[in-house]
Amino acid sequence: MAKTIESLMKEKRIFEPPKEVVEKSNIKKFMDAHGIKTIDELYKRAEDQEWFWGELAKELHWFKKWDKVVTGEAPYYRWFEGGKTNIAYNAIDRHVKNGKGDKIAYIWEGELGEVRKITYEEFYREVNKLANGLKSLGIKKGDKVGIYLPMIPELPIAMVACAKIGAVHSVVFSGFSAKALEDRLVDAECKALITADGYYRKGEPLNLKEKADEAVAASPLIEHVVVVRRLGDAISVNMVEGRDVWWDELVKDKPDECEAEVMDAGDLLFLMYTSGTTGKPKGVMHVHGGYQVAVSQTLRFVFDLKDDDVWWCAADIGWITGHSYIVYGPLILGVTSVLYEGAPTYPQPDRFWEIVEKYKVTVFYTSPTAIRLFMRFGEQWPKKHDLSSLRLLGTVGEPINPEAWIWYYEVIGGKRCPIMDTWWQTETGQFIITPLPVTPLKPGSATFPFPSLAAEVFDDEGHPVTGQGGKLVLTKPWPGMLVGLYKQKERYEQTYWSRFPGVYLAGDVARKDEDGYFWIQGRADDVLNVAGHRIGTAEVESALVSHPAVAEAAVVGKPDPIKGSSIQAFVILVEGAEPSDDLKKELVKHVSVEISPIARPDSIIFVPDLPKTRSGKIMRRVVASLVKGEDPGDVTTLRNPEVVDEVKKLIEEEKAREGR
Ligand code: WTA
Repeated sequence: MAKTIESLMKEKRIFEPPKEVVEKSNIKKFMDAHGIKTIDELYKRAEDQEWFWGELAKELHWFKKWDKVVTGEAPYYRWFEGGKTNIAYNAIDRHVKNGKGDKIAYIWEGELGEVRKITYEEFYREVNKLANGLKSLGIKKGDKVGIYLPMIPELPIAMVACAKIGAVHSVVFSGFSAKALEDRLVDAECKALITADGYYRKGEPLNLKEKADEAVAASPLIEHVVVVRRLGDAISVNMVEGRDVWWDELVKDKPDECEAEVMDAGDLLFLMYTSGTTGKPKGVMHVHGGYQVAVSQTLRFVFDLKDDDVWWCAADIGWITGHSYIVYGPLILGVTSVLYEGAPTYPQPDRFWEIVEKYKVTVFYTSPTAIRLFMRFGEQWPKKHDLSSLRLLGTVGEPINPEAWIWYYEVIGGKRCPIMDTWWQTETGQFIITPLPVTPLKPGSATFPFPSLAAEVFDDEGHPVTGQGGKLVLTKPWPGMLVGLYKQKERYEQTYWSRFPGVYLAGDVARKDEDGYFWIQGRADDVLNVAGHRIGTAEVESALVSHPAVAEAAVVGKPDPIKGSSIQAFVILVEGAEPSDDLKKELVKHVSVEISPIARPDSIIFVPDLPKTRSGKIMRRVVASLVKGEDPGDVTTLRNPEVVDEVKKLIEEEKAREGR
């Protein structure tokens, strides 16, 4: 959003944290325990990563203590080397053994209003049964298991069950198409898939098994498909003899105890596919040891969770936010979380606020897109509900414009709840740049690197700069960091560690102000951030050109008041194909089927040609500036500079047609 960036630059207000929040905070307690008097002193002391993360790792269970907190060098740091552990043991066994089994782990609310409250003990037993079930299917340590489930309790149960037996899960967002699922199952070499018959979205039953079947048919390594009965009679599904088994039948006679596999700290826990600048999505690899410390301890200090809190991270578990902060982080801390199946505005725009009131949610975390959507519906919806249980708020996924920040702060937080604007990525696994509840806040700034971590804004030569835009880099390792991209060593080194050797390149543009606050401005590469979802322009383009009528395509982001960016596609048709509105609709549908409705172009413009370099590469940057109404700069070196004006004219015509 152009407006966002402008207003970010001018934002000067500072919001001091409420005294009682500071006094009771986990971070203050940690400081007191270590004789640390001021926040500055904490940041200073925490620069000693060996000490800081070593202290925090002691909060968790280890079968064998680590030899060294962090060792190795970029791009292959190793955390807690020599340590033996299992994240599932920390997430569940520990609580049951410590007498916390009766505490509620998840309050699940289905879209139609069904409620399931699951205690740690119940969760533990369900995990063990499934873990034993998976073992009976021949799944062992190191095997990859695909998980394609909606937001139901079986999703975290399946993840933790895999972790418990040392299998590696690869969760695919349930909104992805069969084709996208297939790509991920094949790349990850999954041996089994856990899915469901279907789920409800906006009140409609959706058939998930059908999509899973299509993907599995093209994934030769899959031997077993485990199916959760979510819809039951509401839908009919086809079970393949010898391959498919109902979850309830698989676990029926399985023991509810299962020893956790002893894992090395550096053993693989999961793969999470995410979009990059080029090619197909890449499988980001996370491991047991560092990740478990990272997600639990950042959650403990940033969102300040305590025993009596009700935490609600309103993301989908199909993304990293859900992995780290709906599943592993909260379970390890032993807190009660809300898990909501459905759409934020179903059946009415106050569904979220109804849930906050009903379960007395104390800490709430969502995306700027959701906040802007709620702003548009108006404050009468949250005003219908008692939101006084809230103590802290958070956002993630995209820059938050100060207008949305202030609305969130005033209308949802009643001017009493600090807002934790957390910057991080699938690759980082954990919060990196984030306030603590004691940090004075500037609306729109994610503030500072978490204690003991380090970030900078670099100019093109790799010099740290202040007060101007540049490339966001991380200059020290962090425990939740990815260990690589699955089967793509070179791409890993190239993408993140080669631009400035030894330093992690995040792919975002940011600015650091004179007080050291970071202001994240958006992606620097060909990745779009649409409603907080990462979408590679290359993926959408290749989906478009896979349609027989399309010769070439370019996809760029267009500023959008709610979603941050919307997807604008330019399409060159093959000889003989006729441009029409029907064809546009067909292409939009085609992208939904190839990837997902979340990657659907919001608008398509047919063009005779696109600006290209002399070697024939489409200049997406030029097209992107035309879409934003900006000056495309010097275009004289293009092979076809005359096309620039033509494309500009077509964009203006489209705008006029849309009536904007
Ligand atoms: C963007 C989501 C501004 C950023 C956890 C990053 C943000 C990408 C913020 C990662 C924030 C995330 N402010 N931008 N607080 N948080 N981003 O991998 O562009 O889905 O690179 O991880 O989201 O998206 P991912």
